[in-house]
Amino acid sequence: MAHNEKPTALIMIFGATGDLANRKLFPSLYNLYAKGQLDKFAVVGVARRSLTNEEFQLRVKESVTEHGEAAANLDEFVSKFYYHSHDVTDSSSYIALGKLAEELDENYRLDGNRIFYLAMAPEFFGTIAEHLKKDKLTNVTGFKRLVIEKPFGHDLESAKVLNKQIRTAFSEDEIYRIDHYLGKEMVQNIEVIRFANAMFEPLWNNRYISNIQVTSSETLGVEERGRYYEKSGALRDMVQNHMLQMVSLLAMEPPIKLTTDEIRSEKVRVFRALRPIIGEEVNDYFVRGQYGQGSMNEKEVPAYRQEEMVDPDSNTETFVAGKLMIDNFRWAGVPFYIRTGKRMKAKSTKIVIQFKDIPMDLYYQREQTVNPNLLVIHIQPEEGITLHLNAKKSGQGTEATPVKLNYANKGIDGLNTPEAYEKLLYDSLRGDATNFTHWDEVALSWSFVDNISAVWENTNEHSFPNYESGSMGPEAADKLLKNDGFFWWPVTEIDVDNC
Ligand code: BG6
Repeated sequence: MAHNEKPTALIMIFGATGDLANRKLFPSLYNLYAKGQLDKFAVVGVARRSLTNEEFQLRVKESVTEHGEAAANLDEFVSKFYYHSHDVTDSSSYIALGKLAEELDENYRLDGNRIFYLAMAPEFFGTIAEHLKKDKLTNVTGFKRLVIEKPFGHDLESAKVLNKQIRTAFSEDEIYRIDHYLGKEMVQNIEVIRFANAMFEPLWNNRYISNIQVTSSETLGVEERGRYYEKSGALRDMVQNHMLQMVSLLAMEPPIKLTTDEIRSEKVRVFRALRPIIGEEVNDYFVRGQYGQGSMNEKEVPAYRQEEMVDPDSNTETFVAGKLMIDNFRWAGVPFYIRTGKRMKAKSTKIVIQFKDIPMDLYYQREQTVNPNLLVIHIQPEEGITLHLNAKKSGQGTEATPVKLNYANKGIDGLNTPEAYEKLLYDSLRGDATNFTHWDEVALSWSFVDNISAVWENTNEHSFPNYESGSMGPEAADKLLKNDGFFWWPVTEIDVDNC
């Protein structure tokens, strides 16, 4: 579908009374509607509790008012929302939903197009997909698509089981696996920066790049998600998906065309080239951390082990730093360092590409060697690019001084805002799966991560908690780079706004 064509579909949101629907999906759908990007559509909210259509519409209205920018057409928007109280394991409930879907399809002339959006607990994904087929909701005259939230499984084995279940009802090209990082403006910009600029691509390899650092730090703790997080930890929650996805975009070869298949197949090749880290090697390549108590914004905050629904002896990591090696011609020898954690000093997602030192230091900066060139991609909260160069210091002499060329993408606040969901929802309605993860990517990233969790789950980390809330993680994460002669570029001092 061309970009200016308006999609037509019935959107069924499973988990319609949940947090994700309330905070992201309703406001995002409304934004699309307000921009005139939705044509004919209706929404069925599906969830367990019993609500009338009017009660549901009121919730949607409140969600948009609270989390979005409501305008006069809000009443007209919510009038297209319907509610179905549902039992995910009961066929009769699906049959009733199917009837409602048929009615709406006819009344709104939706061309038999259906989107099934699963915004709920993952343990039901498989059951729902199987019922959708068995109870004939997937018998459509138009398109049918399944949009599915993470986590996609808990490890490779469970992901395979889940995939098999959903594949009974949907083909791979009908499955849209969400990774909301792929909806972020500056994550989508990685490819453009790389492939639309003559000055970067020739240098984008092991001859000119010394290392790449990807940091996604959060200030929040585990909040009310202790039950989920205890079984997940930062490795499964952030590394398997968001962090590895960013690495694949940074490392992929230029696709021969900007089509979904071409881009995905280049990303898959990066995952295939990721050096597996097995057994004892994990300790050389990866560091785990767990936050202790500390102070954030001058307020005392509890340790992870004191959080609700968390085992007081928990071995779950809330921080991961790792060194990834991509064993191909372009990247041989270049470490990709990643780090992510909760309760860290700043909420920040940044990518730093550090170029190699120049061959001979003709200039000096206050008795130091000149700074390396850096390309910093600011993903959030600020969005932009900074290029760190060296120039002559004004005045007498030949002293060099660092200068920064800065591009700030103002006007968008990228903190997991509806914008990412808005883009992804729109893509799923238009049938563009480029910014969703293909099964091959999911499988390869699980097999990489499973090797690490296999070691961590079998050894208690006696140093936990090993970083203070409000810090940048455990010391061992700094050592990881120090051993290679590098250091983490501080995320706060290289902010776009400080330039
Ligand atoms: C989610 C994780 O996928 O990403 C959360 O489950 C995490 O634990 C969140 O907080 C971070 O997203 P963002 O967009 O705020 O960086």
